[in-house]
Amino acid sequence: TVYENPQIASKKVADRIAALIKKKQESGEKAVLGLATGATPVQVYEELVRMHKEEGLSFQNVITFNLDEYYPMSPNSKQSYVTFMNENLFDHIDIKKENIHIPDGTLKKEDIAEFCIAYENKIEALGGLDLQVLGIGRTGHIGFNEPGSAPNSGTRLVTLDDLTRRDASRDFGGKENVPTKAITMGIGTIFKAREIILMAWNKKKASIIKKAVEGEIAGEVPATYLQLSDNTEFILDEDAASDL
Ligand code: GLP
Repeated sequence: TVYENPQIASKKVADRIAALIKKKQESGEKAVLGLATGATPVQVYEELVRMHKEEGLSFQNVITFNLDEYYPMSPNSKQSYVTFMNENLFDHIDIKKENIHIPDGTLKKEDIAEFCIAYENKIEALGGLDLQVLGIGRTGHIGFNEPGSAPNSGTRLVTLDDLTRRDASRDFGGKENVPTKAITMGIGTIFKAREIILMAWNKKKASIIKKAVEGEIAGEVPATYLQLSDNTEFILDEDAASDL
């Protein structure tokens, strides 16, 4: 679905999330959300905060799982996805702290595999993700599933692509400061969500969106695997859709 600009598109996505939360509230259930970081979802989070403050949208029944975190990464660091989520969403809504899950960038290497299995198990114990929101990296990554990721991959430690580290270099004051690794939900984890929304805005995403939507399904562009999913919607602005 193509919208005129990121503002309108973000509002639509926020409305869908709010509708899901309210529907679950009415039936006394939890809403289990998979969340993304990056510039792309910022306006969605802004709109959700506005709905909380001005319309009383409650997040008491919301459980969140973030896609990824750099490794190693201290949660207090200004580049951590913990800081990003707190600043852009969690600090401004009434979500319960214990309902927030973000991969732990402080783990010892030998504890990562066990953490990743527990992350998957927690999602499953809650009945799976109701909705996963995604951005897309210029390598075609979703979460931090870089080229070469297997379609059935689970949560795991991965090595970041050079282009991904270059794209992150502004946040870190130079590529050399960007961690070389990350912990990410797998493509298989993402696929299990009942609904998936991938968002992309701006001209600089146009060529990767073309590959993701129209290209051959292949591990070189992990987002192409979403072509195999019946419950994925790409929500784009006109610029990101301009090569289609
Ligand atoms: C990072 C995140 C991804 C995100 C991507 C695009 O790599 N791990 O989840 O989709 O950046 O970021 P942006 O939205 O800033 O373009």
